[in-house]
Amino acid sequence: MLLVTARRLVAFAAPVALLAACSGGDAADPVAEGTAAAVAAGEAPPILKEREENFEAIGKAFKAVRGELAADSPDFALIAAKASDINARAAKIQDHFPAGTSTADGFKTEALPAIWEKPEEFKASAQKLVDESAKLASLAPGGDKAAVAAQAMAMGGTCKGCHDKFRLDDEKK
Ligand code: HEC
Repeated sequence: MLLVTARRLVAFAAPVALLAACSGGDAADPVAEGTAAAVAAGEAPPILKEREENFEAIGKAFKAVRGELAADSPDFALIAAKASDINARAAKIQDHFPAGTSTADGFKTEALPAIWEKPEEFKASAQKLVDESAKLASLAPGGDKAAVAAQAMAMGGTCKGCHDKFRLDDEKK
C-alpha cells in the first residue's frame, strides 16, 4: 500500500515539475532578465550593429558599381569583386534578424515588424539579392557594359523591393 502511494506520488510529481519548468522562471531566467535589463537601459543587442554595418557595406559596394558604370571605361573586374562582396553579405541577411529586434521593440532600427510577420517573403527577398548579385558577378568580367548595367539595375531592384516592404522609410520618420 505504501509502495503504491509512493508510485502515485512520483507519477504526479513529474508533470508538476514539467509545468514549473515551462511557466516558471520569470525571475529566475537569467537570459530573460538580461534582455529585459538591456531593453530598459536602451542597450541594443550587438546583432543590430552587425546588420547595419552589413547593409552599409552593401550600400557602399553598390555605389562603387554604379560609379564604375557611369565612367567611360568601367573597371569590370572591380564590378565583379563588388558584386561578389554583395553576394556574400546578402547571404548573411537571413541570420541578422532575431526575434525582438524590430522597430516595435524599442530599438533604434529600421527593421519593420513585417519581417517577422512575413518571414517567408522576407527570406525570398533576401534570396533575390543573393541571386541577382551572383548574376552580376559572373556577367561583369565579360565587359559588356549595357548588359552589366542592366544586371546592376536588376540587382538594385531587389534592394528597393525589400526596403519598400520591410524597411522603415526615412522620409516617413
Ligand atoms: C531582404 C531585404 C533587404 C534587401 C534585399 C536589401 N536591404 Fe537594405 N535594408 C533592409 C533592412 C530591413 C534595413 C534596416 C536594417 C536596420 O535598421 O536594422 C536595411 C538597411 C539598409 C541600409 C542602411 C544601413 C544603416 O546604416 O542603417 C542601407 C544603406 C541599405 N539597406 C542598402 C541596401 C542596398 C544597396 C541593397 C541592395 C544591393 C539592399 N540594401 C538590399 C533590408 C534589405
